[in-house]
Amino acid sequence: MKAIKQFLKAITPHGLIELRRARLAKRTDEEPDLERSAFHAQRRRRIAAAKFSRDTGAIQGDDREQVIAFLKERGIAVKHLLEGSVPQQSLEYIRERAILPLDPARPLTALHIGNFVGVSLAFLAAALGQRHPDSVVVSVDPNLTHRGISNPQAHVSALLAACGVQRNTMIIAGYSGRKSISNDGVVFDGYDPEKEFSKECACEESLRNLGALCPQAFDLVLMDGHHEASYLAGEIQTVLPLMRLGGFVILDDVDAAWAEIREVFSQIASFGLEPIGTDDRVGIAQLVAKPSHTGATPEIRVSVSVTEWGE
Ligand SMILES: C[S@@+](CC[C@H](N)C(=O)[O-])C[C@H]1O[C@@H](n2cnc3c(N)ncnc32)[C@H](O)[C@@H]1O
Repeated sequence: MKAIKQFLKAITPHGLIELRRARLAKRTDEEPDLERSAFHAQRRRRIAAAKFSRDTGAIQGDDREQVIAFLKERGIAVKHLLEGSVPQQSLEYIRERAILPLDPARPLTALHIGNFVGVSLAFLAAALGQRHPDSVVVSVDPNLTHRGISNPQAHVSALLAACGVQRNTMIIAGYSGRKSISNDGVVFDGYDPEKEFSKECACEESLRNLGALCPQAFDLVLMDGHHEASYLAGEIQTVLPLMRLGGFVILDDVDAAWAEIREVFSQIASFGLEPIGTDDRVGIAQLVAKPSHTGATPEIRVSVSVTEWGE
């Protein structure tokens, strides 16, 4: 019985690998394994070749036109790129009102919620990198199919490398808070977020968990993830302990197209943040006093009709 068990174990794929390892371990220097030597030689040649072809950053991350041309080359429809990302004019507004006022004597730190294919993320990384080369942007996005584009994070990584900011960015593949429906509930290119919801998954509570790792770490946060007033209010409340005093909180879509997001921004003072201004697309506020420790999210009054899940 024991012999049969040993035989069966030996013929499983794992068992065969174990046998080969044991055989290799028994070899002596006088019996060189030529097959193994060739394997290592080829492997080392490929490693050396890869070192020579490393990306050096051919495009400017803060130039949206160049970024969009790069992503178009990767097969993404320009319509989705233009409609699904922060416009250059608003990115410049962010630079002027929330990046240039930061002290560049030390590396700057930012949190970016909602990547899609990386347009605003590449901008932040490049713009902060120009202020201090060791600046860091941490991004949070669950990498769900968005606007019909699956695995958008693959495009984000390619873009960051093309912009030469891959060493200044960290990607967290997770929801900022609890699991939320994808595409803000909109069907794109036949992808129905309601039908796909149960199959979608990513880590949750990334902001709360970052709070445990690095409190008061960030100079600015750009929030452009799930577009639902109560969810955004929860994100703002959770992000406050992550911010440095004097840091900036930026909301995208505080315009007529997203009335409930605009209403959140109009009540931003209830979080203890001081409104700085808006260009009618992004809204900027500043943390001017230490956040209170009550942890309760202020009740946001939204006049647009909001459908509760399950209704
Ligand atoms: C409007 S797009 C972001 C566009 C990007 N900021 C830009 O301008 O290039 C929204 C992104 O947020 C992501 N998202 C949705 N729910 C989220 C959540 N709960 N936490 C973090 N990201 C979320 C979506 O998957 C999508 O990639």
